[in-house]
This record gives sequence, C-alpha cells and structure tokens, in this order.
Amino acid sequence: MDKEPIRLRVNGQGFDVSVPPNKLLLDVLREDLRLTGSKRGCDDSSCGCCTVLVDGTPMLSCVMLAASYPEADITTIEGVAEGDQLHPLQEGFCVEGGAQCGFCTPGIILVAKALLAENPNPTRQQIAEAISGNLCRCTGYKQIYASIEHAIKKPRAAPVGSSTPGS
Ligand code: FES
Ligand code: FES
Repeated sequence: MDKEPIRLRVNGQGFDVSVPPNKLLLDVLREDLRLTGSKRGCDDSSCGCCTVLVDGTPMLSCVMLAASYPEADITTIEGVAEGDQLHPLQEGFCVEGGAQCGFCTPGIILVAKALLAENPNPTRQQIAEAISGNLCRCTGYKQIYASIEHAIKKPRAAPVGSSTPGS
C-alpha cells in the first residue's frame, strides 16, 4: 500500500512520518518513531499492553489508525518521566515490585496516570477497576496496587517557583 505523510504529536514532540494509511499507531510508535515502550501483548485487543494516552485518555494503540490522530496529544511511557526524574508511579513500581517481566507495566502506568489525574486519591477498588483491562501474568496485582498507592502518597513535586497552598 502506498505511503502517505502524516504528522503526529507524541510526548510533546512533533513527528513527520510517511506510512501506509492502514498502519496502526502501535506499529508507527514502535517501528517508525522507535518508541518501543508500548507493547503488543495480544492479537485481540484484550491485554492493554499497548495502551497510550490520547489527549489524556487511555486508548489501545493496537486498534488505532495512526493517520486518524494528527491533532491528538499522544503520551507513551517514554513521555512520563521528566528528564532524569521518574514519575512517582514509576518510582512506585520500582519500590513496590509492581514490575516483574515489565511487559504490562507501561500500559498500566499510563492507565494509572489518567486515573490519578481524574481522581488523585482512588481507593484500591477504584484502582482495580481502572486497570481491569490490563492483564499482568506475573504479579498477581497486589504489588501493582501497592505501586500505584505509592504514587498517591508521594505525588510529583511541584515545579520550582510554583506557589504552594498556604505559602
Ligand atoms: S496489544 Fe493487546 S490490547 Fe493492544
Ligand atoms: S509484570 Fe509481567 S506481565 Fe505484568
């Protein structure tokens, strides 16, 4: 199939690529942009390993046509840390053992990031519901819940110079 030029905005950066119009976003991310954090864990959109945020909403990049999202703000796991500073969710997965093989971890962190943006203090039940579309074959989920709860206790530090309540 002929290629067509498309522009994507991923992790705050614009990318111009030339891809077949039926190429899936997951494949464009991995093959054309070399952002390999998003994984393909199934063939039937059932695992959540390919999850990215599209304008802040978790979506399965394995069923999205890349060419359909030229205006979207796409976030992958590569865009979650700020420079050398891990996101509190990433810290949580390190500290609490939420990542074992790590295959499911990028998708779960992105779903959790969207959850905490909407509800900064979710219950364990709400966390479980939020990540119910993300399969983990290693952890039994308890460490994943603890990893996300770690981030609830330790939210990302405010940027230097920003005002704080009571200051
Ligand atoms: S690769 Fe499994 S849901 Fe997308
Ligand atoms: S850590 Fe291996 S699939 Fe979740």
